[in-house]
Amino acid sequence: MTRVRVGCVGVGGMGGNHVKAVSDIKTAELVAVCDIIGETAQRVGEQYDVPCYTSHREMLKKEKLDAITIATPHPQHRPVAVDALNAKKHVFTEKPMASTVSDCDKMIAASKKNRKRLCVMYQQRTKAVNHEARRIIKNGEIGSLIRVNMVSASMRTQAYYNSGGWRGTWDGEGGGVLLNQAPHQIDLLLWLTGLPKRVMGQVSTFGHKIEVEDTASALMEYPNGAHGCLQVSTVEAPGMSRYEIVGTKGRIVLEGNRLRMNVLEQPSDRFIKKSKEMWASIKGEWKDIEVKQDAATHVQGVTAMIQDFIDSLIEKRKSLCPAEEGRMSVELANAMIMSSVTGKPVDLPIDPKKYDGILRKLIKQKGLK
Ligand SMILES: NC(=O)c1ccc[n+]([C@@H]2O[C@H](COP(=O)([O-])OP(=O)(O)OC[C@H]3O[C@@H](n4cnc5c(N)ncnc54)[C@H](O)[C@@H]3O)[C@@H](O)[C@H]2O)c1
Repeated sequence: MTRVRVGCVGVGGMGGNHVKAVSDIKTAELVAVCDIIGETAQRVGEQYDVPCYTSHREMLKKEKLDAITIATPHPQHRPVAVDALNAKKHVFTEKPMASTVSDCDKMIAASKKNRKRLCVMYQQRTKAVNHEARRIIKNGEIGSLIRVNMVSASMRTQAYYNSGGWRGTWDGEGGGVLLNQAPHQIDLLLWLTGLPKRVMGQVSTFGHKIEVEDTASALMEYPNGAHGCLQVSTVEAPGMSRYEIVGTKGRIVLEGNRLRMNVLEQPSDRFIKKSKEMWASIKGEWKDIEVKQDAATHVQGVTAMIQDFIDSLIEKRKSLCPAEEGRMSVELANAMIMSSVTGKPVDLPIDPKKYDGILRKLIKQKGLK
């Protein structure tokens, strides 16, 4: 395959960026668009001079496609993706991959059964500064994990939540800040550190009239015993994201596009055991890590992710975010909600059926309490 024929599903909001990216990418061809709102489908179809559909199934049946992109509300990612995979199309879906791990697993199973790719939009993975942070950690330059701290805060007004019937509801989103606004930052954390093995979560609706959580915290334990703390919300300004990842040889601090590193003179685990002095400590030196920024804007990041998906199909190589990795942030979000609702720590991997039961209850009671 030298050119990938693509149909875009859900083109009223974020999907507009998918359509533009696909039509800009030289190795892709925009073949058709689909939106359940007829006017939206027609407007975008006319704008790009391609056929439009209100049913993805009809588009899959009538058009000769290699792949589709999905930018519908998250609970629709699974049904659209599974239909497309069963129709032998590759799939690129928006974040979060789905609202529940059980939906993620159904999507992954369809991808494996049909031997078609399933990839997820996590455009933080296109940023050079994040790649450098990951390289430093994977290269063992900060040693083994001791402590992780992540804060990601943003602001969403009540008008934002009121702008779409699905927003802010358990039925329409399957969660709040954990499933819609913070998945990028959570995915980046998990891309850097991997998944914890145990989570104690606390989620609440703090500053909006919505059903779902707008504030969430977790205490985490990693497989080697390292501790982690994660806090996200949509009630703070100015927006910020900050990662502090501490290891036995040093630490990195990643704040927006700024990456700093502190390298210890000697590893802390050995020093703690060997030093004969009662109040001894180790010196460390801070340095700014200069990284040439690329894919700096939102649209550049989105286009780079779709370009990577297309290239990964043509070059038959791993994409920047395969489904198994896109699933991670959903599992952590589900675990945090499960822990908060049950008041107990949750071990990972979580029980998908148990979480589905909790979500059904939240949908029924239309709130956290
Ligand atoms: N990567 C990012 O930075 C980013 C930014 C915004 C939104 N998103 C994600 O994109 C998805 C959509 O969010 P949005 O803000 O664009 O929502 P939106 O409501 O603005 O747009 C969703 C569109 O999908 C259409 N749609 C719904 N169900 C459909 C179906 N079954 N088939 C075809 N079309 C359907 C709707 O009519 C609408 O036009 C969400 O999963 C969201 O998390 C990602």
